[in-house]
Amino acid sequence: MTAKDRPQDYIPAAGHDALLPAYDLLSRIVGSARLHRRLVELADLRAEQRVLEIGCGTGNLTVLTKRRQPDAEVVGLDPDARALARATRKATGLGIRFDRAYSQELPYPDGSFDRVLSALMLHHLAGEVRIRTAQEVLRVLRPGGALYLVDIGGRVSPSDGIAARRQLGSELLRPNLGDAIPRLLLDAGFAECVELTNRVGRLLGRSTFYRATRAA
Ligand SMILES: C[S@@+](CC[C@H](N)C(=O)[O-])C[C@H]1O[C@@H](n2cnc3c(N)ncnc32)[C@H](O)[C@@H]1O
Repeated sequence: MTAKDRPQDYIPAAGHDALLPAYDLLSRIVGSARLHRRLVELADLRAEQRVLEIGCGTGNLTVLTKRRQPDAEVVGLDPDARALARATRKATGLGIRFDRAYSQELPYPDGSFDRVLSALMLHHLAGEVRIRTAQEVLRVLRPGGALYLVDIGGRVSPSDGIAARRQLGSELLRPNLGDAIPRLLLDAGFAECVELTNRVGRLLGRSTFYRATRAA
């Protein structure tokens, strides 16, 4: 069954479909653009690479990726048709492909991407879907390729501020706390997972950047 035929079984970008029109504004207010810029800098993008963003939502990171490296082939993936319609409008003329599908069932052959990017999406996935997503990302990366991921979580401490204290009490974010993300990726078979940097924001709390590499 494809994404199009299934009842909604994912958490949409702003938590609820009705809030999607406000997503880009909310995203700017909480500082997502800074996280996207940093992720693209860290990802060491080169011409001719094939780059996939999983959970691309309204396409802000996908578009930034293509603008920073116009000679890369860039693909955005998300199960949400409404978010993809917005992404497609934003990307007019840039030559980005958007696919409606799930990160736990990537519709691509083994070893077909040099980079996979993921921003603020892992906390939308729970349990088995997270595990299968990690395995699928590994499968579609070429040997030596890497996942660059940023999400809320990591080594969050109460001294990070009010938003961080909320993070520590959130059921949704628990699977992202401490070393849970590196453990998820190493258990899936990545050769290494390094924390690259992190950022503490007033509204989002702590966000952590990781690079997970498939063995060459
Ligand atoms: C908070 S938004 C982040 C969007 C974008 N990456 C950004 O940084 O603005 C999370 C996205 O993950 C998507 N998502 C949720 N479950 C998913 C799944 N199983 N596979 C792929 N994407 C999923 C949602 O539809 C949503 O667009």
